[in-house]
Amino acid sequence: MTANAAQRLIQHYVDNFRRLPWRSPPEAPAPDPYRVWLSEIMLQQTTVATVKPRFERFVTRWPTIEALSAASGEDILGEWAGLGYYARARNLIACARELARLGAFPRTAVELRELPGIGAYTSAAIAAIAFGERAPAVDINVERVIARLHALKQPARSEIERLVMDMMPADRPGDFVQAMMDVGATICRPKKPRCGDCPLNVDCAAFASGDPESIPQRRQKAARPHQHGVAYWIERGGSVWLVRRPARGLLGEMAALPGSEWSEAARAAANAIGSIRHVFTHFSLDLSIVLRAEPEGEGWWHPIDQLERAGLPTLYRRAAKLVTEARLAA
Ligand code: ADE
Repeated sequence: MTANAAQRLIQHYVDNFRRLPWRSPPEAPAPDPYRVWLSEIMLQQTTVATVKPRFERFVTRWPTIEALSAASGEDILGEWAGLGYYARARNLIACARELARLGAFPRTAVELRELPGIGAYTSAAIAAIAFGERAPAVDINVERVIARLHALKQPARSEIERLVMDMMPADRPGDFVQAMMDVGATICRPKKPRCGDCPLNVDCAAFASGDPESIPQRRQKAARPHQHGVAYWIERGGSVWLVRRPARGLLGEMAALPGSEWSEAARAAANAIGSIRHVFTHFSLDLSIVLRAEPEGEGWWHPIDQLERAGLPTLYRRAAKLVTEARLAA
């Protein structure tokens, strides 16, 4: 690889960087660590396009870590509703409380990694972007860029981190890691990489091979099992009965419609008014919606015309939509 590959990468970033609400422009003072942390948590498993408006809404409601750490867990989970992967939000709450106790953000990747919900990637990204530490922030996009540069079919994470560190300049490591992220997301795409536009094409062994798409080798995806469950729609005087899901397990602590346990053995309910199929990371679910008269267990009545403010995750928003559309059709 040529010595000035990093220089070309950064120049490309200066000329093309994506303006995102959690970023400072290249060469500007570093962004607020609160915003960097929040964006990195939101961006785990979620696209930039989805995160952008949700990030803006979140920081408008809670502009500082102090404001967030004083908020209730229920409000934060409600604000997260629809983004999925709710363990992120539960960890965010725990992390905000811990940061309030510490009084300031730790400034190094090693210390950041001690916090709830902050792993190897996130600690390095925050340290590099907010505090200017040379820390190897390797997400799936950066991994692909480096694997292709060096034509590594099945690289180990540690090898990628070492190669990122070899390439990272001493000056402005935050711009460097974000330049890597942008190239990975917009040019060095998994399929149909835009090698003609890449500032690293002259350095890239995968490009030279003529088949960059084949590197790195894709891992075989595990088959997704299928589950069934029932959700109850219990309505009275324009309100519907909602419950909070148990803290442990999928959608933990989120607002929900009451219902059965989900399982692979269960079958669709015979008396359902309809069902929805929802795909989670590790299984898909057919959720049958059954009308019931009497509430059961702990819960609360929520006005049906304000359901978008109930903090329901997407699964239950879809179930509610099915009920209201079935009613319109009747
Ligand atoms: N993906 C993860 N972190 C990101 C960031 N800081 N900017 C753009 N995309 C990202």
